[in-house]
Amino acid sequence: MAIAKRCAPDAEEDPWDAHSTIMTWASSILLAIIFLIVLGVSTIWLTVHPRQLQYAVEDVLVSNFHLDLNRSHLVTANFSIKMSTNNSNHRVTFTYESMNVSVKIRDRILASANGPPLFHDKDKFKEFRVNLTSNNVELHGSTLKALKETNSLEGIKINVIIEARVKFKALHWKQDHCRIQIFCGEVEAHSQGKAFKQTNCDVEL
Ligand SMILES: *[C@@H]1O[C@H](CO)[C@@H](O)[C@H](O)[C@H]1NC(C)=O
Ligand SMILES: *[C@@H]1O[C@H](CO)[C@@H](O)[C@H](O)[C@H]1NC(C)=O
Ligand SMILES: *[C@@H]1O[C@H](CO)[C@@H](O)[C@H](O)[C@H]1NC(C)=O
Ligand SMILES: *[C@@H]1O[C@H](CO)[C@@H](O)[C@H](O)[C@H]1NC(C)=O
Ligand SMILES: *[C@@H]1O[C@H](CO)[C@@H](O)[C@H](O)[C@H]1NC(C)=O
Repeated sequence: MAIAKRCAPDAEEDPWDAHSTIMTWASSILLAIIFLIVLGVSTIWLTVHPRQLQYAVEDVLVSNFHLDLNRSHLVTANFSIKMSTNNSNHRVTFTYESMNVSVKIRDRILASANGPPLFHDKDKFKEFRVNLTSNNVELHGSTLKALKETNSLEGIKINVIIEARVKFKALHWKQDHCRIQIFCGEVEAHSQGKAFKQTNCDVEL
């Protein structure tokens, strides 16, 4: 009774005070949590310091090109594509779990193939080759017109697109999976004996 008597008036006397005390507590706790999260994230950021992978197309060799104008404009060709990539991260390694490489003219997929399994160590430069085959791909419109004119893929702008699923590992303890999209636009294929201009790619991690 004595306690109830003492407490009841107190609470009634100053309800606002109690309320604001709780508010102060809650906001301090919230601030502390935010502070810890920011601290944690910036610690990881500073120790891992992620840098974007760099990609370039080193070569696109076309052979076996054939445009069949008799049967609904079908194209056949072999592509041998050489890619190079830099991992300039000092502490992050990448393991490619799957890689899908495709060659497109505008929005039309000419060929696609799986890339090699890769392990990309920290601070390393790496090259790999992917061979693709277009087998009777039907073409239309301006793409077909351009190919008819030259009757080769020489000088035709193609896009090389790579979609990969990778596991990245930082400092032995942090690892995760992610998707990488590599887009190499305005690539000019060449045939045997002709020069190729190295083309840089956009990378989205
Ligand atoms: C990788 O780094 C080397 C040396 O810095 C550079 O010459 C090359 O162009 C880079 N490659 C890519 C694909 O960025
Ligand atoms: C083109 O690719 C196909 C299928 O991979 C292969 O059988 C053929 O030998 C290749 N032709 C040339 C000229 O490379
Ligand atoms: C297209 O058809 C003509 C006549 O039917 C034939 O002589 C020619 O060899 C065919 N061309 C191709 C590329 O198949
Ligand atoms: C690669 O991806 C393209 C488009 O998403 C798909 O059409 C193709 O079948 C895939 N190729 C392989 C070899 O998985
Ligand atoms: C890809 O094609 C190139 C040129 O045609 C050939 O030298 C190379 O051996 C081929 N690589 C694979 C993995 O088939």
